[in-house]
Amino acid sequence: MKVYIETYGCQMNEYDSRVIASILANDGHGMAHDARTADVVVVNTCSVRERAEARVLGRLRHLRGLMKKEAVLGIAGCVAQRLGDRLLREVPGLSFVVGTEQYWKLPDIIESASAGRIVVAVDAGTGESYDDRPGPDEASLCEFVSVMRGCNNHCSYCIVPYVRGRERSRPTSSIVDEVAKLVGLGAREVTLIGQSVNSFSDEGRGFADLLDAVAGVAGLQRIRFATSHPKDLSIEVIDAVGSIDKVCEHIHLPVQSGSTEVLGTMNRSYTREQYVALTQRIREGIPGVALTTDIIVGFPGETDAQFHETVSLMNEMRFDSAFMFRYSVREGTRAAELADDVPEEVKVARLQTIICLQQRVTSEMNAGLVGSSAEVLVEGPSRKNEELLFGRSRTGKVVVFPGDGGLAGRVVRVEIASASTWALHGVNPVLS
Ligand code: 5AD
Ligand code: SF4
Repeated sequence: MKVYIETYGCQMNEYDSRVIASILANDGHGMAHDARTADVVVVNTCSVRERAEARVLGRLRHLRGLMKKEAVLGIAGCVAQRLGDRLLREVPGLSFVVGTEQYWKLPDIIESASAGRIVVAVDAGTGESYDDRPGPDEASLCEFVSVMRGCNNHCSYCIVPYVRGRERSRPTSSIVDEVAKLVGLGAREVTLIGQSVNSFSDEGRGFADLLDAVAGVAGLQRIRFATSHPKDLSIEVIDAVGSIDKVCEHIHLPVQSGSTEVLGTMNRSYTREQYVALTQRIREGIPGVALTTDIIVGFPGETDAQFHETVSLMNEMRFDSAFMFRYSVREGTRAAELADDVPEEVKVARLQTIICLQQRVTSEMNAGLVGSSAEVLVEGPSRKNEELLFGRSRTGKVVVFPGDGGLAGRVVRVEIASASTWALHGVNPVLS
């Protein structure tokens, strides 16, 4: 059967869609590139914020209308895990619901669903990590590899521990094998992903050891990783990033708020001062490092003064970029027991303020790079302008530059001639 998979949410969900695809390919199914021609449509979903969840339900109903009448529609991922059979009421014509730990069952589920049965498979708690999944049998230049799944942190606003279970790390050998296979298939960069990669642990070996092991894969040129929790990012990891050539100088370190009190109610386990001290240590240990972050505004009880502490932290830190969100209540979390008392229009205004602030800072940071040079892994022609090539710098910034299409897949050094908020513009690429 031809299966069409649509993915929402984070890199872990992108990775899981690959897991789903490889399990199904192993069972003899092929992939479809259009929901209209597919026999099976799977939507892999995110429930981190309410709006994302509402949008995906709308999308499912829309897809059902587009699909062949006899084709089956299923929902996977975090929304499936969270809502289970409640989804059958929300989406008429839905054939199956498959939770984050049940993807091995998909071949059977699809067979049953195609025979007209409705299947809900959302058991959790098995600690599934899809470690011995089949494949991969193809790779892009830049790939993701999961190193751990689940999360034990219990940040009070966050649904992730409820939909992805307890934290479990994959064995180092299996991660290294997967990276080596991807490199054999053409990958040159891997991003090691997990909800909190710095708590990776394999028989006493931590994340710094893992970076070392992955760096040993011949032919691999770059290693990235995300996400780092400030309470777990150790000196060993900072030193590993600073000293292992292949590891890129970029740390995504969500701060969430600049107010120590708000951080306390968020259950983040660090103060503003500890966060600042950590970033100082990072900047000393990794020259030229890019720091990026996530921020939530309008958390329950956030006062104007507390919000301004976030603004002042952003001014002080000068993040290279930030993902910024309005707080969204997630049923079942600790924060859902608190009054969601920041009015929506205040949340919107606060978000607008920090988005403007961050755009200015990002532009200034990028402008500061004009005149320097950057190492770029060339991904191919720029999507906006076919005449230009595009890739990312080691610090994760998009770089566009004129050059020969034959450079795709290669690492070049370019001079940065100008910059905007979104990209650096390079000239004179030289193979490095
Ligand atoms: N409301 C708003 N933003 C959230 N995030 C996680 N949970 C919520 C929520 N309930 C944000 C955090 C996290 C990012 C992935 O999503 O900033 O780091
Ligand atoms: Fe969304 Fe979190 Fe699930 Fe990723 S783990 S898809 S961000 S809810």
